[in-house]
Amino acid sequence: MRIDILTILPELLASPFSHSIIRRARENGIAEIHIHNIRDYSTDKHKRVDDYAFSGDAGMVMLIEPIDRLISKLKAEREYDEVIFLTPDGEKLNQKISNELSTLKNLIVLCGHYKGVDQRIRDHIVTREISIGDYVLTGGELAAAVLTDSIVRLLPGAMSDETSALTDSFQDNLLSPPVYTRPADYKGWKVPDILLSGNDKEIEKWKHEQSLERTKRLRPDLLEDQETG
Ligand code: 6GU
Repeated sequence: MRIDILTILPELLASPFSHSIIRRARENGIAEIHIHNIRDYSTDKHKRVDDYAFSGDAGMVMLIEPIDRLISKLKAEREYDEVIFLTPDGEKLNQKISNELSTLKNLIVLCGHYKGVDQRIRDHIVTREISIGDYVLTGGELAAAVLTDSIVRLLPGAMSDETSALTDSFQDNLLSPPVYTRPADYKGWKVPDILLSGNDKEIEKWKHEQSLERTKRLRPDLLEDQETG
């Protein structure tokens, strides 16, 4: 899979994809992540990427031209499945959306800034708008890091244990059960006996019960989602 991220702050995106699972996925050719600086596509001598809003509102608006030139260049090189715009007024990201996006081949991810982007980019170029939650960030970069991380970890081979993405919290609308490691007794804080029993069937049953109990207690909304489909 290939993800092209378009930003005016490429420095912000250097680190999130250079560690651990995402780094390995890139090194193994499972995911290609390309960061593009929108400013490089400005034709203006001052390398402007934004201008005042026609409405007279305070706050700058990102210009169409540099973004369109960059996206046109990318589209001439390959076909893209989606052009995603990250914006707090987009569809709220969840595991189902990440799962869907992880099955695609080529994605463009546009990070918004300032007061937003010229609406014509959203009307004519963007195919999907995504938010990572109901709060406002200074720009789409951190959201792009969240979105990309949530997608890339799902790609086949990205995780050493192929099953681990399937047992994540949210994959079946259930939170994960608690996990423990050695020592079995730390200052009298004990690991549940069942986990030391060696009885795999009972352990599986316990894990499922724990998942259900935690979901009911912490995120009852997830169980309601399931009932309504
Ligand atoms: Cl995608 N962008 C910004 N600027 N703020 C957000 C967001 C995105 N998602 C939640 N808050």
